[in-house]
Amino acid sequence: MSDVLTIEKLDGGVALVTVNRPDKMNALNGEVRCAVFEALDQLEGDDEVRAVVITGAGDRAFIAGADISEFKDARPVEQYRSMQDGDIYDALEDFRKPVIAMINGYCLGGGCELAMACDIRIAAEEAKLGQPEINLGLIPGGGGTQRLPRLVGEGRAMKMIMTGEQVSGAEAERIGLVDGVLSRDELEEHTLEMAREIASKSPLALQAAKESILEARRTSLPEGRKFERGWFSLLFSTDDMDEGVTAFLEKREAEFTGS
Ligand code: COA
Repeated sequence: MSDVLTIEKLDGGVALVTVNRPDKMNALNGEVRCAVFEALDQLEGDDEVRAVVITGAGDRAFIAGADISEFKDARPVEQYRSMQDGDIYDALEDFRKPVIAMINGYCLGGGCELAMACDIRIAAEEAKLGQPEINLGLIPGGGGTQRLPRLVGEGRAMKMIMTGEQVSGAEAERIGLVDGVLSRDELEEHTLEMAREIASKSPLALQAAKESILEARRTSLPEGRKFERGWFSLLFSTDDMDEGVTAFLEKREAEFTGS
């Protein structure tokens, strides 16, 4: 893996992915984007990895957005084409395993969009989250106009995107942009603990949960219920479901194998 992105396989089935450009606030350039695609491919094929945590190197930034220096000479047609073939945000959302964003500092622009494409977001109290593209004469291009209103409501999303305001981790939790807030000292330990807990569940049930919840955004309630029933019934064919039910009846902890 390239230097701009590191992958550490931790105990308990958790992989920690770190964007590693701390001197540039972990801004997302082309090299980081390629490395994210590669990392997702690698982690999806690795059965030992059951949950992924993504964070930024250093103590100042999660990711401070797209690398603005790459915007200077970009032309519309090339820009559009490069975005048309799929991006890291949709790839993260489509990734089959649970992904948690551990937001340790500035989480702006593409960084906020990347966090929103993850399944769960946990932030440090003093993190700063926002979509400041308006200050560059732009709008969010990595899903911010779509995912932010779904999380915080249309009015608040309009305000954040139109003013470019930055909210603290605590405020982000209050408005539903993040799902937990911790002191900086506790952030890593508690987030990894949660990731290990998730990783101990049935991988197939986790995938079913993720896909079913995401389906709710894309379809009507009756269609979504049909989708859920399909997954629910399919899980009855798994060894993991047999193990989970047997373990409950035998009053012991289940050990899920992913089959
Ligand atoms: N793209 C490229 N470089 C970035 C960057 C980005 N999105 N964000 C930060 N950097 C670079 C700075 O240019 C600087 O590099 P340098 O030391 O070579 O000059 C370095 O990271 C440190 O940033 P700096 O601005 O000096 O730190 P700060 O503490 O004063 O401010 C931020 C931190 C995050 C508030 C500020 O860097 C910022 O506003 N970044 C841009 C955020 C943004 O608009 N993101 C959306 C992009 S679409």
